[in-house]
Amino acid sequence: MNRIAVLGSANMDLVVRQTRLPQPGETIFGTGFHTVPGGKGLNQAVAAARLDGEVDFLGAVGADAYGAQLRDVLATEGIRSEGVAVSTEPTGTAHISVVDSGENSIVVVSGANATVTDLSAAQRATIAGAAFLVMQCELPVAVLVQAIAVAREAGVFTVLTPAPVMPLPEGFLASVDLVVPNQIEAEQLTGESDPVRAAESLSAGATWAIVTLGAEGSVIAYNGEVLGLAPARPVQAVDTTAAGDTFVGALVARLALSTGAVTEETMVDALRWATVASSISVTRVGATTSMPTLTEVAAILA
Ligand code: RIB
Repeated sequence: MNRIAVLGSANMDLVVRQTRLPQPGETIFGTGFHTVPGGKGLNQAVAAARLDGEVDFLGAVGADAYGAQLRDVLATEGIRSEGVAVSTEPTGTAHISVVDSGENSIVVVSGANATVTDLSAAQRATIAGAAFLVMQCELPVAVLVQAIAVAREAGVFTVLTPAPVMPLPEGFLASVDLVVPNQIEAEQLTGESDPVRAAESLSAGATWAIVTLGAEGSVIAYNGEVLGLAPARPVQAVDTTAAGDTFVGALVARLALSTGAVTEETMVDALRWATVASSISVTRVGATTSMPTLTEVAAILA
């Protein structure tokens, strides 16, 4: 089995359900509150593991109750966590408002995630020994740059969710094998509001790009050319938190089943699995709590 190294954030999500977002200076009542293990990195690791991916998670948590809970999640999901540091900073938290339409707004307080500034020798070895490196932008950019360098030297296929969008070094995006932004992130990165044009731009130079469009599906492009539009599976969304993370985790888990190089055929097949996995996740509440198993996705694709 091809191993997947996920380098990324681990947060405890503090989720408030509410009918609408308050105006500045306004107080409103929420309709519910719950805590859910999350963080874009942890989410992608869990999504891949639920689809039978062999996953190593690399990151940091605090020496606190939330950190212990997140480490328990890794153990329960069968994700290797030797590469998770325990920091003197508190575990990262994400403050999430979910409104009745299922849309969410998120404020992340990085905490321990911000201490992941350098890769250890063991973390470098884990990346070099993997077939896939999966990253997002909730860790310091410096460590993402280090990881890409290790991966490229070892011939590891690299996947980046450029969220939240932040300034990246010149050439960084083009050095990634697959970039998976949502439509807003794609526009912020390229200046193109048309997702087809954005996908073309992001995929220039032998890069894969998949721009996710929520209920509209996704656009896939390679080497500056759009290959097609994958429709979404229609569902009634109750919470879209981590739908994009579920998509990426499932996509990579499916790609990791193939022994050879990533091809258009394997990418299109993986896209079908990712589309179904994320469609299931939006029908459930929370981040890691919403992700489907291999059996659930396979049942729909059968
Ligand atoms: O992508 C969803 C995730 O973003 C949440 O789980 C939250 O922790 C933030 O990182």
